[in-house]
Amino acid sequence: MPVANAFLKVENLARSFVLERPVFAGVNFTLDRGEFVCIIGHSGCGKTTILNVLAGLDQASEGHVFMDGRELAGPGLERGVVFQSHALMPWLTVRRNIAFAVESRWPDWSRAQVDAHVRTFVEMVGLGAAIDRKPSELSGGMKQRVGIARAFAIQPKMLLLDEPFGALDALTRGTIQDELMAIVRETRQTVFMITHDVDEAILLADRILLMSNGHDTAGGYVPGGIAEVVANPLPRERTRAGLHHLPGYYELRNHIVDFLVTRARAGGR
Ligand SMILES: Nc1ncnc2c1ncn2[C@@H]1O[C@H](COP(=O)(O)OP(=O)(O)O)[C@@H](O)[C@H]1O
Ligand SMILES: [Mg+2]
Repeated sequence: MPVANAFLKVENLARSFVLERPVFAGVNFTLDRGEFVCIIGHSGCGKTTILNVLAGLDQASEGHVFMDGRELAGPGLERGVVFQSHALMPWLTVRRNIAFAVESRWPDWSRAQVDAHVRTFVEMVGLGAAIDRKPSELSGGMKQRVGIARAFAIQPKMLLLDEPFGALDALTRGTIQDELMAIVRETRQTVFMITHDVDEAILLADRILLMSNGHDTAGGYVPGGIAEVVANPLPRERTRAGLHHLPGYYELRNHIVDFLVTRARAGGR
């Protein structure tokens, strides 16, 4: 797909917190509609900062982000964000936590409309029986599902996920990865997701952005950036259990691990 028609276009993005030492600079990438893109890189390279800029929660020092041909300015309900630690309102039930977002998105909807919509998405993440519980009565995995249901319920044009499964145990993580993949495929959702889990990226992503850390060299400071974009060659109909058996899996995995071990902190280019 030509870049001009890309759904999301990130152009020459840079962000500095300290003068002369931008965390990253010259970041360019695109997302096609319905594409699932993961970004992987060591801690501190600026993944969350990029996601915050895409969410409109932070402003880049340089560069532009266009969605559907229009430059982004501030947060908007056409983008749904899921953070690493579920940001639920503790005094509200699952139903009310999600209804709150749905009512902001569609202020004209009747109570019955809102409630039916909320139920659909709560059931989608398998929490129908817990709809009237409060966050304190839910496990970490269940809370994370509520966060995902809430993000999907506002039917965003783009979903932004910052290590959404990072805090979960392996078993729960696997189940939710499978659920997320099924929902994303079904709804043809466009997703930008940060992960530090190579297998998670290989399972979920159509393309994987490899990001390097800013670092000092003999010639001076080099900001972080996207060192490489890896297309996932595995068939899209893949499962967690079958991943290891697919031809090309180990090659892809080794390539990413090699990047993280040998190139990510040294510029990678
Ligand atoms: N609000 C901020 N003020 C100052 N420095 C920040 C701020 N946010 C992030 N940073 C710095 O920017 C760098 C990248 O952070 P972050 O985007 O959170 O990295 P990642 O998500 O890849 O681990 C880190 O060095 C971090 O300390
Ligand atoms: Mg982060």
